[in-house]
Amino acid sequence: MEKIDKLNEKYYHILKVIAQKKGDEKHLRITSGELASLTGMSQQNASRIILEMGNEGIIDRKISGRHQDISITETGLDILYGEFAELSQILGTGKSTSISGIVQSGLGEGRYYVAKKPYLVQFSEKLEMIPYPGTLNVKVDNSDEKTLRHIRARKGILIEGFSSDDRTYGAVKAFRCSIKGVACALIFPYRSIYRDVMEIISHIYLRETLNLKDGDSIEIKFDF
Ligand code: CDP
Repeated sequence: MEKIDKLNEKYYHILKVIAQKKGDEKHLRITSGELASLTGMSQQNASRIILEMGNEGIIDRKISGRHQDISITETGLDILYGEFAELSQILGTGKSTSISGIVQSGLGEGRYYVAKKPYLVQFSEKLEMIPYPGTLNVKVDNSDEKTLRHIRARKGILIEGFSSDDRTYGAVKAFRCSIKGVACALIFPYRSIYRDVMEIISHIYLRETLNLKDGDSIEIKFDF
């Protein structure tokens, strides 16, 4: 973990420069000379690090003549949002926020995972909640995607993974939240790429208690 943090630190500065220069465009078209002067590195160092970042899957690069088109991958975005989340935690900003989305049905997998005993024990100890077996799936409104990326990058409450039945179950990150005043938790697989669907657990069967149907719009509130 520490090794990853160190690597991320190294790439963060360059990612920030790329993101800043790129703005809302999909790619940044740039020569290696321009990149060197933007990052304040020698051309040789800048080119080496850019190559490394491509190999690590942090950026995508397409070379066209003297230029290259650089875009930031989901892994790269995670590094940027990770730094942002760390700073807001240190500075104590963004203490409460909310995300809106639409209730959806999933593939019925939530109930299988949530009901696994080692997860249940931890949900009970760390979230003070014995969840209803399942997850309420909520598709995030486009306008709140950045907020979700930000929350996802925060530390959260770690629910450890375990092995059983000859397979492993990954670690999960949880964030306390509420829907219409009902205590819930947003959960993410610890190692996962960003997706715009939130999985919510709660001690109650939310569909019944809050009278929720697919397509309903709901607001989820967070206090950190
Ligand atoms: O089929 P799907 O993946 O959406 O569901 P599940 O995770 O197996 O959960 C079973 C059902 O309970 C789904 O309809 C969920 O939306 C719902 N649910 C709920 O209303 N309240 C909870 N606390 C958890 C799940």
